Amino acid sequence: MTWTLTVNRQSYRVPEDKRLIDFLRDDLGLTSVKDGCSEGTCGTCSVIADGKLVKSCIMSVSRFDGSSITTVEGLTPREKEVYVHTFAECGAVQCGFCTPGMVMAAKALLDQNPDPTRQEIKKAITGNLCRCTGYKKIIDAIGLAARFLREDEIIPAADKEIRVGDRSPRIDVMEKVLGTGKFPDDYRFDDMIYGRALRTPYPRARVNRIDVSKALKHPDCVAVLTAADVPNNTIGHIVRDWDVMIAEGEVTRYIGDSVALVATGKRENLQEVLDLIEVDYTELEPILDPFEAMKDGAPQIHEKGNILSSERLIRGDAHEAITGAAHVVTETYRVSWQEHAFLEPECAIGWPSEDGGVHLITASQSIYDEQREVSEMLGIEPERVHVQSALVGGAFGGREDMSVQHHAALLAWKTGRRVNVRLSRYESTIVHTKRHPMTMKMTTSCDADGRVTALVAEIVADTGAYASLGGPVTQRACTHAAGPYNFQNIDISGKAVYTNNVVSGAFRGFGVTQSCYAMECNLNLLAQKCGMDPWDFRYLNVVRPGDVLPNGQVVDPSCGLAECL
Ligand code: FES
Ligand code: FES
Repeated sequence: MTWTLTVNRQSYRVPEDKRLIDFLRDDLGLTSVKDGCSEGTCGTCSVIADGKLVKSCIMSVSRFDGSSITTVEGLTPREKEVYVHTFAECGAVQCGFCTPGMVMAAKALLDQNPDPTRQEIKKAITGNLCRCTGYKKIIDAIGLAARFLREDEIIPAADKEIRVGDRSPRIDVMEKVLGTGKFPDDYRFDDMIYGRALRTPYPRARVNRIDVSKALKHPDCVAVLTAADVPNNTIGHIVRDWDVMIAEGEVTRYIGDSVALVATGKRENLQEVLDLIEVDYTELEPILDPFEAMKDGAPQIHEKGNILSSERLIRGDAHEAITGAAHVVTETYRVSWQEHAFLEPECAIGWPSEDGGVHLITASQSIYDEQREVSEMLGIEPERVHVQSALVGGAFGGREDMSVQHHAALLAWKTGRRVNVRLSRYESTIVHTKRHPMTMKMTTSCDADGRVTALVAEIVADTGAYASLGGPVTQRACTHAAGPYNFQNIDISGKAVYTNNVVSGAFRGFGVTQSCYAMECNLNLLAQKCGMDPWDFRYLNVVRPGDVLPNGQVVDPSCGLAECL
């Protein structure tokens, strides 16, 4: 059977049924259509079909026989210049991964309703998520686009000269609005093969045997790799403790661990080949609580023990100050994991370089860390690992560690082919780091006038299966736990503890958000005990220029915290 679709005013006959997004991206190369979730949730794959906004990741080609589809590539030149101008003018673009989908949602609305209210614009983009920009600026941009299109306004000429202090549009706004900018998965190569990891179903299990023989017989299988194929199987951002793959005889540490890597000629065959790998596990009781992990006799997740790092900050005599205080509050706070939820799932493309190393196209937070970790894994000089950053679809701390880069590099190195490794939304969620869960016991005290006198804090951070940035994050949670208040007695201790949970790492705020939350909650309770308004309590206690923070930092004249309050 054949289906006929008109896409951006051109007619195509499609001989096999498939997801509409795959036809648009892979067959027609319309990479403005992004795949953020494959589940109909994020809206990055939005296109217009017969005037209606649809999510192309959950629709098949067969449903659009005889339909007319429009993507951002098919906008008129006038529409393109208007959306580029208004999204730039309103600051409505950051990473840009959501932007073409937003533009499609805008067009679907404005084609029907050239003068929408703000409420109508909000409703029109309810199916489109943006993780970076926030919605206000996007709504502003769509409202402004409506005006330009409706009233046929001329786009003002861009300033030729931009001076320091001038307002200027982002230099990458056009490629992001029009979808011509490339994230890793947007790069197209004729000779590309595809890679994916087989993950353990158990957070803690001994891998007894990995049998890849059936997988290797699959007609589209190019390679199956295990830990035995990795020159140096342990990598890490700061601490080298993260296995590229879990070897036979070793124990898994979390459900994001890989036990094998597969490469196939077609992406759609990856799962079929992965399903042919037989792994014999002995399931073990996982350690899911950092307090259990610290007990004597607890199974050791890493050879050097379950405590990744310890911190202790002491100034003054907090215990004596608390003993003599008018009011004391002791509470224990627990905060959970938080997902970065960047909209672009991780993807990397690797291929062999002429100097015997590898090239990589990635989207991370540091190409130099990727270069170092991949070179350590392959046992080659960093100079032979060539990393090029594509556009990055959001990160927020969640792209500090290796997720797909090392796997793409290894597959390229072993197969001599160009390999694309992309995570599904599910894999992305289980594999990459999260904000650290913390348990924080906080004792704070103040005098009868409401002046804070001391803090004793015990912070335990669950750093999960691997170190990532658990040490520095926990350190920062401790050094900032006392907040921006003028008192001089602290005793703060912190520990980052390995468990079999998902790895915790960097996230905006870097440990400070957790301890700040606990401290601020305690201050509210102290204010209550003093019979003071929480605002007055803080205004009395915040640091001012010349004061010394509880951690010993001197407050410089630029501090305007009291004025802010
Ligand atoms: S809604 Fe289609 S990719 Fe997310
Ligand atoms: S700009 Fe919207 S998700 Fe990044």
